[in-house]
Amino acid sequence: MVKRNKHENEKPPLPTTPLPPPVGELPVQYKRMSASRTDPPAPPSNRLYGFIPVLICVSLLWFAWSQWHNPPQVQQQPVRVEDHHKKRVWWMPDLLKTLPPFAEGYRLENFVPKYKISGCAINGNFPEINAAIFCFLHNSTLFTAANKTISEDLGENGLCSKIKSFTMTDWKLWKKHITDKKVRRVAFVQNPLERFARTFRKICEIERKCLNCQENVGCFMRKLIKEHEKVAEGLAGHVRTYITNYFSPQSWNCHFNRQLRTVETLKIGGNQTELARFSDELNKILGEQGVPKEAQKTIKEEVMKIPLTLSADERRIMEKIKKDEDLLRIFRYLYEHDYIIFGFDI
Ligand SMILES: *[C@@H]1O[C@H](CO)[C@@H](O)[C@H](O)[C@H]1NC(C)=O
Ligand SMILES: *[C@@H]1O[C@H](CO)[C@@H](O)[C@H](O)[C@H]1NC(C)=O
Ligand SMILES: *[C@@H]1O[C@H](CO)[C@@H](O)[C@H](O)[C@H]1NC(C)=O
Repeated sequence: MVKRNKHENEKPPLPTTPLPPPVGELPVQYKRMSASRTDPPAPPSNRLYGFIPVLICVSLLWFAWSQWHNPPQVQQQPVRVEDHHKKRVWWMPDLLKTLPPFAEGYRLENFVPKYKISGCAINGNFPEINAAIFCFLHNSTLFTAANKTISEDLGENGLCSKIKSFTMTDWKLWKKHITDKKVRRVAFVQNPLERFARTFRKICEIERKCLNCQENVGCFMRKLIKEHEKVAEGLAGHVRTYITNYFSPQSWNCHFNRQLRTVETLKIGGNQTELARFSDELNKILGEQGVPKEAQKTIKEEVMKIPLTLSADERRIMEKIKKDEDLLRIFRYLYEHDYIIFGFDI
């Protein structure tokens, strides 16, 4: 047995790591890898080079078009669409406080069981027109017997005013016929300033019943605020005075405080165009309740005969309030929510 040399037991020396190539030269292995690529490239085709700028242009154009045509849906913060400082009346600041809407709601009902419909009349919104139309639906024989038409029955005591089941003044009757049953309810609403001007002309200027203010609209509205605030706060109980009833905000009627969503509102007033639109909308509802075409036609003809355009005096009152910042501010304090609830432009 050959004695092994001591040196033979030693591990072979580690291969020496090659020195790093001088800066700027590739290490050997990379040299080898790239060697195959060192062949001179095929001579570029001039046609291909000419095509590149065209391709870039076309893709840029396509990109621009696709962005314009179909912009990417970016998750955005909610955008403030309307100017935060835009005012409801361009020349005066918005109100921070108004009289509350929906005080204990009065209702003056005109119920027609035959068509399961009831018209709620609001003081100041031609309650006599409401009564005459629904009375005609209730029993048109009353009109023929009295030799009258709808437009001729616009007094305080219409032909149906004595019929208890029509006027529904009794809570027991109301409960029996209206609650739990599917009765359609409509109310006529009016532009708040037009309504105020008409009522002020009639009750303050002609009847002179307006809290000793005679024709002074500013004096009257200031006193009216005090009266209305008592009603709004419940301090006056369920009682309204002649004045607080006639000048009540519209939302204080028809039990809007409980049934806003179940009462349909129709805008009445204005010129012949607006009156025609009103009667068309009313007839649409009546048609759905089964009122015959013939009766609808009569109603429209009669409604168009009622003159509702504002008189010169009424327009004077409106203009006075509109032009005076102080008066308009008080007016809006009283009736701003009627504009919002019933959808009128101020
Ligand atoms: C309608 O009025 C006429 C005349 O007053 C009356 O004879 C008739 O009974 C009334 N009809 C109904 C359904 O109330
Ligand atoms: C019905 O009233 C019209 C006018 O309103 C009148 O001309 C006519 O004579 C009256 N008819 C009857 C029967 O009273
Ligand atoms: C009727 O009133 C409306 C709104 O105020 C107005 O746009 C319209 O021009 C008026 N039509 C006529 C015939 O006066």
